[in-house]
Amino acid sequence: MKRFYIETFGCQMNVHDSEKVVGTLERRGYEMVDSPEAADLVLYNTCSIRDKAEQKVFHRLDQFKREAGAGKIFGVLGCVAQQEGERIFERAPHVSLVVGSASYTKLPELLVQIEQGETRVAGLSLDTEDTFETEHTRRDNPHRAYITIIEGCDKSCAYCVVPFTRGGERSRASDSVLTEALSLAQAGYTEIQLLGQNVNSYRDPSPAGWNFAQLLEAVGRVEGIRRVRFTTSHPRDFTRDIVHAIDRTESLCNQVHLPVQSGSTAVLQMMARQYTRDEYMRRIQWLKASKRDIALSTDIIVGFPGETEKDFEETLRLLDEVEYDSIFSFKYSVRPNTPALSLGDHIPEEEKGRRLAILQERQRGIQLRRNAALIGTVQEALVEGFNTKSGQWIGRTSQNRVLNFTYPENEGGSQPARREMVGRYFPVRVTRAGPNSLAGEYSAVQ
Ligand code: 5AD
Ligand code: SF4
Repeated sequence: MKRFYIETFGCQMNVHDSEKVVGTLERRGYEMVDSPEAADLVLYNTCSIRDKAEQKVFHRLDQFKREAGAGKIFGVLGCVAQQEGERIFERAPHVSLVVGSASYTKLPELLVQIEQGETRVAGLSLDTEDTFETEHTRRDNPHRAYITIIEGCDKSCAYCVVPFTRGGERSRASDSVLTEALSLAQAGYTEIQLLGQNVNSYRDPSPAGWNFAQLLEAVGRVEGIRRVRFTTSHPRDFTRDIVHAIDRTESLCNQVHLPVQSGSTAVLQMMARQYTRDEYMRRIQWLKASKRDIALSTDIIVGFPGETEKDFEETLRLLDEVEYDSIFSFKYSVRPNTPALSLGDHIPEEEKGRRLAILQERQRGIQLRRNAALIGTVQEALVEGFNTKSGQWIGRTSQNRVLNFTYPENEGGSQPARREMVGRYFPVRVTRAGPNSLAGEYSAVQ
């Protein structure tokens, strides 16, 4: 039996790709192990969205070689594989497999070549029409499952490598998505997360011709599915019928992630985001007008070339106006191949750091206020685990907030077993709030 080890970096798409790679390998008779030393095949699924991703990858590959010892096959997958391609063989000669994230459908044939002893096997085609669907996906969470509905990206945001690492948009047929959702529900999953670089740019290739809102609602109506989330949405393609679908369908979570990147229309234009600040705000207003209490989150980049102090202040004002429940914020980093490469990178690291710190501080206050407003309410928490140190169960609300809570001890004076709690939903009264999480107690009466 051949044994493999896989390590994954990056977004949920990458995490889910790894799950599919694991399923594909297990189907071919490989067994997963949890250390490079114990493996015959060592795989590294990489991300190149920011920073010095390539250097980090080569550093880790060297470490692998030292840790894992001789006589193993090393493979690089994902976005750095796509970006660096066969150069990886030159810089890390112990690597014999390089597969970009748009070529995973070729993985079974590439594995055959590896098994036949070839030492430099690459899958780097970007023009693949297929989506990476496999009957065998090994999911590590028994309650929450990812489903890819669209791969790749057709936008060309000036800062972003994704169109180069994942190719153009390919949507998956709606009946295939629904069949998978149904079989997940039958297997006991209760939460589904629909994935795509631009999930709401979904265009059903089958005759049904559904748009994203239609697909979302249909997944939300699958019996047994209690929670549906989706990520990531592009503001340009965010239509009001998505909000209507959420209004109508209880299982669709109170959560929308809508990356804005900047609060300044001038910067948005330089970023080629294809919307203005006002157009973005209109979408936020639709979401706020919903009868559901939809939590909002976003991504922000500071220090994009040409961002003035005034532009940055507009981003701060946007935070105040929207009052996000959480944000992911980053310093701009130059990426190979991207259109913004020609704009240079003239804002000093120090200044980027200063803007980032101000932004995060401003958001911290907003989050504290928003979380504190929930004290006294009862929220439904899906249990994810137990924190032995605090004696609290770790839960997550529909709004995607972490809600840690106490639960009555059983007669023996101990907590119920994990298997009785994890994956179940409990009403919890919120008693305390921090900037990043809530705490509460199990509340038998809603
Ligand atoms: N520099 C900094 N942040 C970036 N992101 C994408 N590309 C870059 C870059 N070159 C951020 C965006 C995106 C998130 C996934 O990562 O905010 O939404
Ligand atoms: Fe990283 Fe983007 Fe690739 Fe995801 S798609 S792994 S975020 S580079």
